[in-house]
Amino acid sequence: MIKFGVIGTNWITKMFIAAAIETGEYELSKIYSRTQERGESFLRTLTVDDVDIVTTLSDLYTGIDLVYIASPNSLHFEQSKVAIEAGVHVIVEKPTTSNPAEFSEIEKLLTLYPEVRYFEAARHVHQPNFKVIQQTMGELTQLQGATLVYQKYSSRYDAYLAGEEPNVLSRNFSAGALYDLGVYPIYAAIALFGAPRAVQYLPILLTNGADGKGTASLFYDDFNVTLLFGKTANSYLSSEIYGLKETIAISNIAELDTITYHDGDGHADNIGQKTDDNPMIHEAQDFADIINDPVENHTKYNQWFQLAKQVNQTLFDLRSSADIEFLADKKEY
Ligand SMILES: NC(=O)c1ccc[n+]([C@@H]2O[C@H](COP(=O)([O-])OP(=O)(O)OC[C@H]3O[C@@H](n4cnc5c(N)ncnc54)[C@H](OP(=O)(O)O)[C@@H]3O)[C@@H](O)[C@H]2O)c1
Repeated sequence: MIKFGVIGTNWITKMFIAAAIETGEYELSKIYSRTQERGESFLRTLTVDDVDIVTTLSDLYTGIDLVYIASPNSLHFEQSKVAIEAGVHVIVEKPTTSNPAEFSEIEKLLTLYPEVRYFEAARHVHQPNFKVIQQTMGELTQLQGATLVYQKYSSRYDAYLAGEEPNVLSRNFSAGALYDLGVYPIYAAIALFGAPRAVQYLPILLTNGADGKGTASLFYDDFNVTLLFGKTANSYLSSEIYGLKETIAISNIAELDTITYHDGDGHADNIGQKTDDNPMIHEAQDFADIINDPVENHTKYNQWFQLAKQVNQTLFDLRSSADIEFLADKKEY
């Protein structure tokens, strides 16, 4: 059993705990919160026994094998760094770090702790329907590009309109549309098509300088990928991947609910239907497999690590193309 602790007391942590326990590979041992009260009230929402609430990272990282980090983006780096130094495996929510300088520090540190595994929780690329898309791409005659969409109105935007600055719409917390929902289409694009040769981001900025929504382009040698994402409006568009005459349509690039293949004659086939209630189960299982057998699964681990690194670089390149600066960019390493 992998004894794990968690950082973050929001709904996503609850969902990860349920997924991890459902795999049968993990046992929840500690919950970190900035306050004992919030930790206890979070614990009351779970059905688990023998779990300690801790309020310091040093208490959290004693006696556990792995930590799941779901704090605001800007905190991921420091919390991951301290975990690695304590010999604790890390599953960190997307995006791993605020910029490539932080990612590179993590990469260097991992060479000193070769037994520690570091994973980015990009749940959709671990789902069975993502493999369906990858396999079906082999049937496209000549790739013509893609349009990937993830735009969902956020209740945190209501808070922003009411005069607050929620973490997820703040550059002080390395956030905004690109570093939140934008991560899903970017992850899918890079996992499917590789790293682009150039990128451009055209955001709609909020008055605090964070991006509320935007359109991005990833340029490849023979095709382009268009990305639409945001937190200030709802979109019901499907994502699409184009062959010459064939199209793969994806109902929602983050959830991968339904995958439809339209052949060159216009016939449509449902080739993938999501069946599980908790979309985090597959990543939890994939990460457990690597921790349980790091030698056998070394190639897979390396591929995910390199993918995380490329996504991190692409997020930064897109952000730089739009002159969006984070507070974290001012740090020196
Ligand atoms: N994979 C997914 O589907 C998915 C979905 C949602 C979010 N996420 C990711 O999960 C992470 C957390 O997102 P979220 O929306 O849950 O964030 P959040 O609500 O802003 O914060 C998460 C937790 O961090 C702690 N926290 C909040 N503000 C803090 C501050 N100023 N300083 C230190 N700790 C603070 C709080 O726990 P305590 O008060 O108990 O300390 C809170 O429960 C992000 O990286 C996001 O991208 C992933």
